[in-house]
Amino acid sequence: MKRIGIMTSGGDAPGMNAAVRAVSRKALTEGLEVFGINYGFAGLVAGDIFQIDAAAVNDVIKRGGTMLYSARYPEFEKEEVQLKGIAQLNKFGIDALVVIGGDGSYHGALKLTQHGYNAIGLPGTIDNDIPYTDFTIGFDTAVNTALDAIDKLNDTAASHERTFVVEVMGRNCGDIAMWAAVAGGAADVIIPEHDYDIEKVAEKLRSSRQRGQKHAIIVLAEGVMHADEFADKLAKYGDFQLRATTLGHVQRGGNPTAKDRVLASEMGAYAVELLMQGKGGLAVGIQNNKLVNHAMTDLFNSKHESQLELHKLVEDLSY
Ligand code: F6P
Repeated sequence: MKRIGIMTSGGDAPGMNAAVRAVSRKALTEGLEVFGINYGFAGLVAGDIFQIDAAAVNDVIKRGGTMLYSARYPEFEKEEVQLKGIAQLNKFGIDALVVIGGDGSYHGALKLTQHGYNAIGLPGTIDNDIPYTDFTIGFDTAVNTALDAIDKLNDTAASHERTFVVEVMGRNCGDIAMWAAVAGGAADVIIPEHDYDIEKVAEKLRSSRQRGQKHAIIVLAEGVMHADEFADKLAKYGDFQLRATTLGHVQRGGNPTAKDRVLASEMGAYAVELLMQGKGGLAVGIQNNKLVNHAMTDLFNSKHESQLELHKLVEDLSY
């Protein structure tokens, strides 16, 4: 193996640049050449590929977004499209790849491995919805961004004795919601992985109000419903001075936290080590604070295990 390619694919996440830097610097340290592929699999097929030297990744560790741009490209499922990508790898002499992205990106990475080009996947998504890893790159930053907004909303909620329903991202995963809810002292958290009873939510708000806690934050995961819809439902059960806020794509941006930068750096260097051992078709993760790798095929048949005890913690602490 002489030349490795690197791409970011799917929704961007803070820390992707730190991962690009880590893969590049580790590969250069090992005497390999590195090629950046812009726009994920779409850029691979189009041949939007350039050589990365050590200076090209100067200072990117602290930057949000991805310097390699990103795209969702379902067309890569087709064999004839994959072959166009392979032709580009041959043209640039790229032997192996690191793909930073979510579940969809791993499907493309596995296809490349099956065509004889080893690819390693790094979990880059704010959603934290990838199996066999406790955390994904970008999750911690997104939680902190959501938390910052919740703290601010809590100030105005307190001043006007209001209840805010705050919708956070996460696709079908409630991890951002649970972490932000625990850290933000929320009154309740509504996630796809756990049933909720709107009457009980209302009852809890009512009894808190009677005890003197007249403002509240309810964190709602986008996978359940939209914030205004939830607020409309809740309004039928009492006058809680409801307001709905959707945080949206702000959660995808910003400088990565130290935790995301370190995670991305560790995973990026580890991916290069795996490639140097001649391995491919593997997804890197972190479990119990240790770097791990699992066959991508195992991930496709599994579900990320959320820490549902955090849901209970919100219930217990919001008495
Ligand atoms: O997967 C990351 C994510 O931000 C999800 O949380 C969200 O549901 C989705 O992407 C939004 O997608 P888009 O950026 O295409 O609007």
